[in-house]
Amino acid sequence: MKIVPGPASKQLGEKVAELSGVEAVPLVFKNHPDGESYVRIEGTVKNEEVAIVQSTSPPQDTRLMQLALIVDAAKRHGAKKITAVVPYLTYARQDRVFLHGEAVSIEVVARILKAAGVDNLITVNVHQQKVLTKFPFPAKTISAIPSLAEYFKQKGFRKAFALAPDKGALWLVEEAKKVLGGECGYIEKHRDRYTGQITMEKRPFDVKDKTVIIFDDVVSTGGTVALAAKNMKEAGAGTVYAACVHPLLIGDAEKRILKAGVEEIVGTDSVQSHVSKVSLAPLISKELMR
Ligand code: R5P
Repeated sequence: MKIVPGPASKQLGEKVAELSGVEAVPLVFKNHPDGESYVRIEGTVKNEEVAIVQSTSPPQDTRLMQLALIVDAAKRHGAKKITAVVPYLTYARQDRVFLHGEAVSIEVVARILKAAGVDNLITVNVHQQKVLTKFPFPAKTISAIPSLAEYFKQKGFRKAFALAPDKGALWLVEEAKKVLGGECGYIEKHRDRYTGQITMEKRPFDVKDKTVIIFDDVVSTGGTVALAAKNMKEAGAGTVYAACVHPLLIGDAEKRILKAGVEEIVGTDSVQSHVSKVSLAPLISKELMR
């Protein structure tokens, strides 16, 4: 197998190659003066199984196009099987029609990748696992929650309360609980489909003076984690932390979360950021070598 680290995940891809003991094939990428993406694989991929590591975090459309171009380039130059390793899979939250007239974005992404030549896909904590069953090739999601929980365990937060900021994230905190050994629970979140405004129902948790870690798959505007943190502070929590797999941190998200009383935000290198304190490389390497 050879690994091609895409421009969005250069460091992560190189780390995966190193851990897996395989060659990282260099890639030339640039933008044409009009903004179009250009890629060229330097080195040979002929008759090789190739894993392309490329997150599709912002700018999503560009990252997605780069991925499709790399896949095409690898296929065109003789790769015999292509695995797209897409730690953050964009458009996954629009996984059904919520309001009349909408597209199902994730299904469009799947069709684009199929058309480019992807044979199978590995992603990390996709928003809803069941969307992958609709992909026109085998697609699998792996979870980084145990690794994030391990980070906190190493910091000495054994038995911390793991909070999911909505019911859909309950399984995430159940995974975290197995590592941390404390309690877990969720707050019910509602999002207005037209305004995007979120509200949360208060639940009677006993978190007085306890350390609370909020786990979510994605932090985008920070609204969800900030509101959950405020709730926990009002319930008397001691220290509140935030852990997420995909730290998109759009605009002033980080400031907003810290202002709500969160002590530290911890993310993975699915999206390269200064909060990416947990690397996905060991998980991805293990999955590829399986
Ligand atoms: C939604 O259900 C996701 O799990 C996240 O909670 C959400 O995408 C976070 O978005 P934001 O940071 O903008 O509140």
